[in-house]
Amino acid sequence: MSKVTVQEVSKDLFLLRVEDTRTRYFEALWEIPEGITYNAYVLKTPEGTILFDGWKHTFEDEFIAALTSVTSPAEIKHIVIHHMEPDHTGTLPRTLSMIGEDVNIWGHPFVKQLLVSLYGLTPPNLNLVKNGNSLTFGGRELVFYHAPWLHWPETIVTHLPAENILLTGDIFGGYSIPAGIFDDELTEDDVQTYMDYSRKYTTTVIGHYRDKMLKNLSALEDKYRLRPAMILPAHGLLWRGDPQRIVRTFQQWGEGTPKKGKITVVYSSMYRYVEKSIQVAVDELKKQGYDPIVYPIVDDQRAAIADILGDVLNSEAVILGTETYEADVFPYTEFILSEIRKKACAPRPLLVLGIFGWAAAAGRKIRQLLEGGAFDPIQIMEIKGLLTPEGETRIRDGVRTLLDTVRAR
Ligand code: FEO
Repeated sequence: MSKVTVQEVSKDLFLLRVEDTRTRYFEALWEIPEGITYNAYVLKTPEGTILFDGWKHTFEDEFIAALTSVTSPAEIKHIVIHHMEPDHTGTLPRTLSMIGEDVNIWGHPFVKQLLVSLYGLTPPNLNLVKNGNSLTFGGRELVFYHAPWLHWPETIVTHLPAENILLTGDIFGGYSIPAGIFDDELTEDDVQTYMDYSRKYTTTVIGHYRDKMLKNLSALEDKYRLRPAMILPAHGLLWRGDPQRIVRTFQQWGEGTPKKGKITVVYSSMYRYVEKSIQVAVDELKKQGYDPIVYPIVDDQRAAIADILGDVLNSEAVILGTETYEADVFPYTEFILSEIRKKACAPRPLLVLGIFGWAAAAGRKIRQLLEGGAFDPIQIMEIKGLLTPEGETRIRDGVRTLLDTVRAR
């Protein structure tokens, strides 16, 4: 049974949160042993109830139970859709069948098409909001702002000006099941751990649209002058103690700002030849005062690509070890690189250790793969089979050259 939390988070505004520990691969891609929450919200007014978003359809029964624990179906007069991805709208068809399709639905103009394509729904009272449109109902005012591509083109956020609360959908969300509801209920250590999950989530889910992150943040802060006292995302932790912390951090992730001293090492090694070279590189890093994060892809363990992407995003430098495989890059490495290129690229130095048996190919292919943006400079070192003292010297020299580049920045 999944844990559900129903809690009033501001006057008459209720959080409906479910803890999803069943999904192993979010979007059928990203490994999340830490789980995820889906956060919907309910605002009660003397004239009726406004529902914001929903949950993944897997939790349909729990959602209806949570919803009807705070409001009767007949009281629900409005539904606001911040984002159509089914982790937030999977419960919508059942909700509509319970309360009737003539409820007022508010969303971005693109929602109309998505309601049909995802659910075959054509609700009669669909209100397609323009940027800055508002709804006043039951003495409460809601202002809607477009935030395209965070995470889909139809994303909007809702501001409650009187309370200065911002409901943000995917934006400012994170993986994991936070130990509390609000940031100010967690220890600093727990908030920092959560931030790692939030960075992993942001990179994997929104990373492809990092330029849009910066554009939307700038619009929310500079154009609409929003500096919310409370940020309520649709995943993870709610922000009340220091909402600007997640805003500032989100901006740094959008910019790809590196964390000082952070180096990530990723390697694939079928028969541990690459691993031996990587061990030399890691040893040299440690001699130089660094404590790298190391992700192995070997025959008895496989690092999670979601973790790799999250850590590459704010690393100062990356070391990649790979084999030549069928005259090409090792397949899993190729997948990782293509996702880094899409979601976590930044002009940071990369050292590639390409190990080959009879013909070097991985290094050359990697250079082709990364041409035009992800990583700068790229240092490629091809090493034949068994590690020799000469090979070890070359690797240590390569690591020191990488660090010289890092320190010179
Ligand atoms: Fe949480 Fe893009 O959905």
